[in-house]
Amino acid sequence: MTGVRSFIDLYPLSSYVDWAAKRNRDPILDVFKQLFPPSGDVLELATGSGVHINYFAPHFPHIRFQPSDYDKGVFAAVRQMQADSANANVWDPVHIDLTRPESWPDAKLHRYDVIFAINLFQVAPISVADGVMQIAARVLKNTGFLAIYGPFNVDGKYTAPSNEAFDQELRASNALEWGLKDVRDVEKAARNHGLVLTQQLALPANNFMLIFGRAQSRS
Ligand SMILES: C[S@@+](CC[C@H](N)C(=O)[O-])C[C@H]1O[C@@H](n2cnc3c(N)ncnc32)[C@H](O)[C@@H]1O
Repeated sequence: MTGVRSFIDLYPLSSYVDWAAKRNRDPILDVFKQLFPPSGDVLELATGSGVHINYFAPHFPHIRFQPSDYDKGVFAAVRQMQADSANANVWDPVHIDLTRPESWPDAKLHRYDVIFAINLFQVAPISVADGVMQIAARVLKNTGFLAIYGPFNVDGKYTAPSNEAFDQELRASNALEWGLKDVRDVEKAARNHGLVLTQQLALPANNFMLIFGRAQSRS
């Protein structure tokens, strides 16, 4: 049950973002059930309200989940959801601004099996791709992967009329930074940091899950 789409408002705690999360969380969970290791460490970028990480956590009792966002104003919501769900495997949120390297995790202190980001790219400048890929290159374990979910264009084209309409709504709000990005541009950023697109999965509602891994093994 996904309810009725509310007025578009991309604030992470808005009813629109909540509606989108409730619509996409099960299809994303199905993919993660196929791909996640049985145990390990997972970092979420741009966590927002915490709706995904707290929904996924009970399905992976041997995985430790680290939420993060650049907006510290959402941390109380993430903590509240963690407490309400009694998720012992969801850590306290940390501040990661994908445009500010000084806020990024230290690979000497922590490495991750999986990094994921949901519905970030369409509400950020394309330069955010560089930050995401740099973090992944820095803190992913050798066999780890990065998963990026959201609506994307393919080879310069919309994949559905609904995506074109969504893109126009986004650009009307923020013409310089918001809007659908192209898979090619995300791939280019990945290559610059030694990562390659290994899977491009078509998910419901004209969204993709893009999976990236290291181009070459690293010890
Ligand atoms: C549309 S919301 C999606 C939130 C959540 N992932 C979801 O799907 O419900 C976009 C999120 O990206 C975060 N964000 C935007 N720019 C960011 C940046 N430079 N660094 C880290 N997070 C950022 C926002 O704070 C917000 O939580």
